[in-house]
Amino acid sequence: MSHILALDQGTSSSRSIVFDERGHIVAMAQREFRQIYPQPGWVEHDPMEIWESQWATAREALARAGLEARQLRAIGITNQRETTVVWNRRTGEPLHRAIVWQDRRAEGICSAWREAGLEPQVRQRTGLRLDPYFSASKLRWLLDHVPAVREAATRGELAFGTVDSWLLWQLTGGRVHATDVTNASRTLMYNLAQGGWDEALVQALGLPPEALPEVHPSSHLFGQTESHLLGAPVPVAGMAGDQQAALFGQAGFGPGIAKNTYGTGCFMLLHTGGRAQLSTHGLVTTAAAAAPGQGPQFALEGSVFIGGAVVQWLRDGLRAISASSEVQALAESVPDAGGVMFVPAFTGLGAPYWDTEARGTIVGLSRGSTVAHIARAALESIAFQSAALLQAMSQDVVAAGGEPVSELRVDGGACVNDLLMQFQADLLGIPVVRPAVVETTALGAAYLAGLATGVWDGPEALAGQWRVERRFEPTLPREQARERMARWDQAVRQAMAG
Ligand code: G3P
Repeated sequence: MSHILALDQGTSSSRSIVFDERGHIVAMAQREFRQIYPQPGWVEHDPMEIWESQWATAREALARAGLEARQLRAIGITNQRETTVVWNRRTGEPLHRAIVWQDRRAEGICSAWREAGLEPQVRQRTGLRLDPYFSASKLRWLLDHVPAVREAATRGELAFGTVDSWLLWQLTGGRVHATDVTNASRTLMYNLAQGGWDEALVQALGLPPEALPEVHPSSHLFGQTESHLLGAPVPVAGMAGDQQAALFGQAGFGPGIAKNTYGTGCFMLLHTGGRAQLSTHGLVTTAAAAAPGQGPQFALEGSVFIGGAVVQWLRDGLRAISASSEVQALAESVPDAGGVMFVPAFTGLGAPYWDTEARGTIVGLSRGSTVAHIARAALESIAFQSAALLQAMSQDVVAAGGEPVSELRVDGGACVNDLLMQFQADLLGIPVVRPAVVETTALGAAYLAGLATGVWDGPEALAGQWRVERRFEPTLPREQARERMARWDQAVRQAMAG
């Protein structure tokens, strides 16, 4: 039996999962690490803690699986995307803490770039928008504010990477400085059509090209781990950003397949095949993970900043529940939200609205409203925001002559909430499908690594491993669903105005 180790480096924890060749989980380990908030709107991680927590879980998972390194066929890496790490390529030393994707400090840099008229070419070439979410603005902030980063750049010793590159560098003892197309496509520097760093754009953004990692396809032999780490070298043969890995783990190998991951935020991706389609409805275009021989693949993406985090707010802010798991019971204690609408725009709104100034808004309160109605409205807000993304995706695809999305595959922590999934199906008017293995992110990384090392011949061999655990069929009449979406849109307008 072949085994693959998937390293899943997420925003709040590092996890490692050992899979067998049937795609079954053999063992798993997880460790949380520090979230550092130096100022409002800033979020940092310690790069050494990222690496050490990740590596500790890798060893734990292997030990739990009762396996040795030589019994592993490959390692796959998947990671929180956009988070920016800088280190010295001579000494390997980090030059600053990692600036996390959620960090908004580069807002001013993005407005300056917008004022300089760079937005149209950025959109056209990278499929993204000028937003501090993406890595280039974070790298530019580091160059502008941290002398050690600037000096390393001047000496040609600066290495920039997203978390995949940083882990790969550590695993290979500093021999390999590389990334994959999916992570590269989140930096604002990757040219989707040409498939490589966009030199002219890198120059226009004032960034040093020699600091960038080499870009490879996601399923590729990136390098061998140092023997002393696990006792024997293991090939690192797959890398992808976590959302693209999840699409791949959902058997999203070709056009038309859409997935939504319900975590702290929600990330929805729709595979659009070999064509990088630019959105006219507020989404971004991104590289999708591809199997060897498939050629470049693309997806439309939309993200909801506050998804499951709204439940944390019910717990910690409103103190309506004492544990997140209580939310479903509280929400189900009332038949509906009683006309209450909750737009959790705590940090502005992402796709398709893109309004950094919007703020959280609750509308439709009456004398009879209770905390249960607010909890129900909070849960529903996750589905409303996701429905707005899917609507935008379908509009984009139909405008390009394609078919609207016909089902939504789901994963992530909150997809176990049946009430939420049923409401999602009702709003969308299409089935919501929950697979048997919801660890799709790690599974996607394992698939990519296994495809590059001959564990599986191609995506056809993997499609049969994807199985449905539950299918939620829409039951709400379409007219009522449309009315609810219209009321949501109205509440969003109020959140944007306030
Ligand atoms: O774009 C950010 C995303 O990759 C973060 O994912 O699962 O670590 O919250 P996660």
